[in-house]
Amino acid sequence: DRVIFSGIQPTGVPHIGNYLGAIKYWVSLQQEPGKIFYSIVDLHSITIPRERDSLHCHILDMTACLLACGIDPEHSVLFQQSDIPEHTLLSWAIGCVVPVNRLKILPQWQERMKQSKDGGHIGTFTYPVLQSADILLYKATHIPVGEDQLIHINLTNELAQVMNRRLLKPFFPRVHSISTSTSTRIRNLRDPSVKMSKSAYSEQTRIELTDSDDHIWRKIRRSVTDCTSEIAYDPENRPGVSNLIEIHCGFSNLTPDEVCADAKGLDTGQYKRVVADAVITVLAPLRQRFHRLRNDEGHLRSVLKNGADRAREVAVANWECVRRLLGLCA
Ligand code: TYM
Repeated sequence: DRVIFSGIQPTGVPHIGNYLGAIKYWVSLQQEPGKIFYSIVDLHSITIPRERDSLHCHILDMTACLLACGIDPEHSVLFQQSDIPEHTLLSWAIGCVVPVNRLKILPQWQERMKQSKDGGHIGTFTYPVLQSADILLYKATHIPVGEDQLIHINLTNELAQVMNRRLLKPFFPRVHSISTSTSTRIRNLRDPSVKMSKSAYSEQTRIELTDSDDHIWRKIRRSVTDCTSEIAYDPENRPGVSNLIEIHCGFSNLTPDEVCADAKGLDTGQYKRVVADAVITVLAPLRQRFHRLRNDEGHLRSVLKNGADRAREVAVANWECVRRLLGLCA
């Protein structure tokens, strides 16, 4: 049976990269049968130092956003990672079978090492082990993620096999990453050579789900394209305009071919208005729902608590099996 798991860091209000690459797809998966777990991965987010007050606020922001986007807590188990300590227990057990050298070669760690003076933190180093534990704890089979996560999903499969050998049993199933066809890598609006990200230097580089209509328009108007005015989809050679096309597709459910046919005769300046309108049409009502939900913290907390209760049932049962198979209990 299909078990879906995915996670998102509580970095406050998500941007349209998170939305198109993950959240929108998470919502649509609810229409198909199967168990679904969506986790706000707060333990992952503290690998980068954050202020205590803002972190808690960001967890509630993320919860309200996910609900506003259409995550249905009756159907999907929506929960906060640190409510379920079994994530870290399984992470420890997995850590005991992963060679240090396997983690050292991961690109994210290499990147971090370059930036750090103190050799980098253990939490950053073992981040992918905790991510694998998130997935394996629920014996998940399908992981909806954007392109930047594929390395970690592949690693999860590798670690699942090593664990299965240790447990002398094919306990953890194979994991498949799944994604929508376009929008798996939405780019930075000011520098289309890199992905849209929360950590980029300026807010002008991304659109957040609660940006006002005016902000959305101004950010898209100033986004970097190129000197050709024709609208054509060519991510390799024309990443800026192709990124706008992907954003447009994601917010309109059209294909790149359809979008380009409709945009015949428009120059990039005129086309930016079309893209902004498509984005605003979806985000304006979403923003209203967000503010309504965000005002009721009691409700948000109860959604997370209910989610944790349901996640715990599965997490505890699976961890107990692992403990037994490891010989830690009879
Ligand atoms: P995070 O919080 O950075 O991102 C959440 C989801 O958004 C996707 N995403 C994007 N998709 C398209 N274009 C972009 N510019 C873009 N930026 C982000 C990500 O691919 C992701 O699907 N390590 C994970 C969190 C995590 C996790 C897990 C995910 C922890 N445990 C278990 C899956 C399964 C992360 O930092 O995602």
